Amino acid sequence: MENSTIIRIEKLVKKFPMGKGEFTALNGIDLTVGRGEFAGLIGPSGSGKTTLLNVVGSLDVPSSGSVTVLDHSIGELSAKEAALLRKQNLGFIFQSYNLFAVHTVYENIEFPLLLLKYGPAERKKMVLEAIEWLGLTDKIRSKPPQLSGGECQRVAIARAMVKKPSLVLADEPTANLDAANSHNILKTMEVLNRELKTTFLFATHDEKVISYLRRKIFLADGKVINDERVTS
Ligand SMILES: Nc1ncnc2c1ncn2[C@@H]1O[C@H](COP(=O)(O)OP(=O)(O)OP(=O)(O)O)[C@@H](O)[C@H]1O
Ligand SMILES: [Mg+2]
Repeated sequence: MENSTIIRIEKLVKKFPMGKGEFTALNGIDLTVGRGEFAGLIGPSGSGKTTLLNVVGSLDVPSSGSVTVLDHSIGELSAKEAALLRKQNLGFIFQSYNLFAVHTVYENIEFPLLLLKYGPAERKKMVLEAIEWLGLTDKIRSKPPQLSGGECQRVAIARAMVKKPSLVLADEPTANLDAANSHNILKTMEVLNRELKTTFLFATHDEKVISYLRRKIFLADGKVINDERVTS
């Protein structure tokens, strides 16, 4: 695989058992994403966006075809190897924030660094940096139930970014936000993309997100029907 390729998908099919038969959620996807892209999967509800992100994120496996992420073949990884790939290289931002309600903003963002066994001094430096990126300095000791939806979303993004992952997978990251918060978060992601060279792959039907994308990959019925690069 070329150095600049971070995701390579060939003839990907994903089927789910349904009743006595099967449902084909992804029906022959061919797609390559390069390092540093700011790309999004766009398509109607049920078109397969989340399913595709889940396979790329090694949370699910292909039924057939191949998916290679950072030189790891997703279908061939053991559960342990997949967990290691996620822990070391991937950042996830989900529509529901999945924050720990009893822990502070600081502790939520620190969590991935504990898994990676960073020492205390380095953890502190990295957490404070991520808190600054996302403008959460005055909420550092707050816990998620004391935060607004937009603030929770920013904590989730800080937690995904704190370890400086190669690839961030973001499924409807602005679903619960107002326009101003959505734009702030997208601008922050753009800066992180530019400064850290983090690759972003979104799944979205939000026009605000779509307007920031530099590559728009349109899905319908589990297929890529269009793939446009924004030239500016
Ligand atoms: N575990 C599953 N078992 C059976 N069918 C599934 C499963 N997961 C997804 N599907 C089906 O696969 C199709 C694609 O689902 P997916 O969640 O990828 O859509 P999506 O594009 O993310 O939609 P949305 O915009 O609503 O989030 C849907 O028809 C869904 O019902
Ligand atoms: Mg979805």
